[in-house]
Amino acid sequence: MRLNPFTGVYLTNPASMWRRILDDPAGVHYAEDLGLWLISRHTHVRRALADAATFANALTLAPVYEVCPEAMSVIMQMDVPPTTAAADPPVHPRTRRALRATFANTPDRVEAEYGAIVRRRVDQLVSRLVARQGDQVDLLPEFATELPLLVVLDILGVPDADVGRIRSWADGQIALIWGQPDPAEQVRLAQDLLEFWRYCHELVRQRVDQGHHGDDFISRALAYRDDDDAVLTVPEVASMAFNLLVAGHETTAGLLAHALDQALSSPQRWPAIAADPQTVPAFVAETLRFAPAIDGWLRVTRRDVTLGEVTIPAGARCLLLIGAANRDPAVFAHPDTFDPHRSDVTDHLSFGHGPHFCIGAALARLEAGIALTRLAAAIPGLRLTPVPHRSYKPNVAFRAHHRLLAEIDVMAPDDGSSARDAASAEVQAA
Ligand code: HEM
Repeated sequence: MRLNPFTGVYLTNPASMWRRILDDPAGVHYAEDLGLWLISRHTHVRRALADAATFANALTLAPVYEVCPEAMSVIMQMDVPPTTAAADPPVHPRTRRALRATFANTPDRVEAEYGAIVRRRVDQLVSRLVARQGDQVDLLPEFATELPLLVVLDILGVPDADVGRIRSWADGQIALIWGQPDPAEQVRLAQDLLEFWRYCHELVRQRVDQGHHGDDFISRALAYRDDDDAVLTVPEVASMAFNLLVAGHETTAGLLAHALDQALSSPQRWPAIAADPQTVPAFVAETLRFAPAIDGWLRVTRRDVTLGEVTIPAGARCLLLIGAANRDPAVFAHPDTFDPHRSDVTDHLSFGHGPHFCIGAALARLEAGIALTRLAAAIPGLRLTPVPHRSYKPNVAFRAHHRLLAEIDVMAPDDGSSARDAASAEVQAA
């Protein structure tokens, strides 16, 4: 099976590639070009996510291509201890316990601890957009990528002044690990990543020096470790901050971009959101299924494993095609239809499954819900600038738009009756 995620249809219409893979009787394929095993069926992807004894996370954050020697020598200087997403037992359960204790990860805790932060940041960005009445804006830098970044910086207690470089480091990390940079670019991105890691280390060292009395994540993690390396080491705290600064914003940025794209691409949906915010959680859930921000994720096999008719050897890197699994007709009725009213929506695998299930899922849902509701209320006439087709950045894991151009119109399209009609039309369509 040929899958080149860096060119062609995968950059404009990945679903057509997922359909082709799902329709193939084998369901599991070796992609020679990538050196990766592709796992596409829902049942297989779910199993691989859950079965940590067979499918390890050790190489999840290692580049998917052979890195040039010069870039590798820079990467080798990064003494980042593996925590959570990059860790396997016994480190994973210990670091995950630490994260659960220090980072709010249930709807109630997230609302109580981060709700005010999210509302403040949403209102700040929405007001800025309202002030651009009549302009054409790119919703990615102006809203979708900015919001989750500001929120995660607030949670970690990082100053706003550092927004620019953290955005650039995080984008660079995603391109370096899951993209296809040329050797010169690999070296530059590797140097940036090393600088990013040193920055996180320094953030933590400062908190240690200050006595870590704050309520930010880093202070909480240091208080949790209570000077006991058996609980958590100081470099592990820095590693968790390093991971959260990327995992906490690039993912939710993708969710917001896909949700805005879906909401603004059909004439009924945006007015329906403005008219009835109660519909937003189901809309967000269907966006997660239909257009996951992470549509491929990596594992490495610890032993030979047979999925269906195919045996994958030990030591093989596997790409779990979450995007394909979310469109598997064995699980989802009319999988290629975007339907916020479907009853099977919660079976999606976009936040993973099992021991590594996303710790930020509740935060991502809260951010997306508040963001869409407040933006639709403030700018009911928001509309996408027509483009010939969607296009995404070349990457095997993160499905990120290049841009999302829209026109700002704070006036409702008419007196509001169309919004109510649209809301009821969506309900009737169910
Ligand atoms: C739409 C938004 C998000 C998506 C699609 C997403 C997706 C995922 C996925 C697929 C995994 C599973 C990784 C695995 O099985 O190896 C994961 C894990 C994780 N996510 Fe998220 N994520 C999102 C938002 C967030 C946010 C907002 C945060 C934190 C601020 C976060 C932090 C993490 C962490 C720390 C893990 C590792 C958990 C572990 O290994 O135990 N994520 N996420």
